[in-house]
Amino acid sequence: MAAVEFQNVGIRFGEVPVVRDLSLIVEDGEFVVLVGPSGCGKSTILRSIAGLAAINEGDMRIGGERMNDADPAARDIAMVFQSYALFPNMTVAQNLGFGLKIRGEARAGIARKVAEVAAVVGLSDHLHKRPGALSGGQRQRVALARAILRRPGVFLFDEPLSNLDAEFRTAMRAEIVRFHRNQGASMVYVTHDQTEAMTMGDKIAVLAPLAAGHKANLMQYGTPDEVYNRPANLFVARFIGTPRMNVMTLPVDGGTVRFGSQTLALPPAAAHLGKVVLGQRPEHLRLAATGSESGLAGSVEHIENLGHEMILTLATDLGPLILREARSAKVPSLGQQVRLVLDPDHVHLFDPVSEQRIE
Ligand SMILES: Nc1ncnc2c1ncn2[C@@H]1O[C@H](COP(=O)(O)OP(=O)(O)OP(=O)(O)O)[C@@H](O)[C@H]1O
Ligand SMILES: [Mg+2]
Repeated sequence: MAAVEFQNVGIRFGEVPVVRDLSLIVEDGEFVVLVGPSGCGKSTILRSIAGLAAINEGDMRIGGERMNDADPAARDIAMVFQSYALFPNMTVAQNLGFGLKIRGEARAGIARKVAEVAAVVGLSDHLHKRPGALSGGQRQRVALARAILRRPGVFLFDEPLSNLDAEFRTAMRAEIVRFHRNQGASMVYVTHDQTEAMTMGDKIAVLAPLAAGHKANLMQYGTPDEVYNRPANLFVARFIGTPRMNVMTLPVDGGTVRFGSQTLALPPAAAHLGKVVLGQRPEHLRLAATGSESGLAGSVEHIENLGHEMILTLATDLGPLILREARSAKVPSLGQQVRLVLDPDHVHLFDPVSEQRIE
């Protein structure tokens, strides 16, 4: 049974539509990430599952049951917010045990469960402290542990790691994924960070803001591999992947496009167009051997050396292009004239008007 199901859901704030025609299924036990730029409706969609944002159109089901208008308390969910509210005058142990206590559980049982969950999130040594004496990351762990203790049917996370430093964020990411794997819990996780989405989700829902003129929010729903390797449209192509995919609009001539001296035959679905948008990820673009006349001329404008690889920005007649090279390759110098070659096996094509992918 689906853990959460949206069917043609619309949400407005006053007259302003924020979510339109959202259909999406989170299967039982799945980890689904909602990702997109600020204002695309991620938090609103998540809050609508929790009952904190009203649904104006369509149906939202939890565990197969229509829950559009159900009381938040009647929904089998636990939410970890962007900002986590802990009771400042209670210790970590008391914060964790509070929900169990008001449900009338026996003290011994509460103590055991609190100790167990504290071990899961690495808080065993901090149970006696008050939230004020914890780091931001530790407080976030308390919020996570509290959600775990509720044993809900669905976990909801709204950017739970946004207040953490980079190193700790990576560690917590791994912890949440491990927790998901061990518990087999259904999770809906909101982030604007596409790396987080790619590394954590079983599936990713890429969302776009209606305010930017999109007819509906959901741009693509698929596995990280699908979204990365076969972006359904230009929005997804540009949003997923870092550095961003190179995108250029090229005239079509006799069923082909030219990239400098390189000619690429187009598939039938693109051959009749006047222009086509061609995309290639930075890791597939490469530098031609010195002295070669193949491909497109460019000059090295910027070099970012990451140690194991380098990211080159190249000025070309088609605009700036980004190229990613293993660091084992010879490092060009700034301003150097080079030739760029496209990998024809890793070209993405899009319709310049509809912006949809062409196979
Ligand atoms: N209570 C509200 N009243 C009016 N408009 C709202 C309300 N909450 C959100 N909005 C608007 O709805 C849109 C989506 O907001 P939402 O918070 O869902 O975006 P988000 O994708 O979570 O963004 P962020 O990444 O910045 O958290 C925004 O344009 C926002 O201004
Ligand atoms: Mg948000």
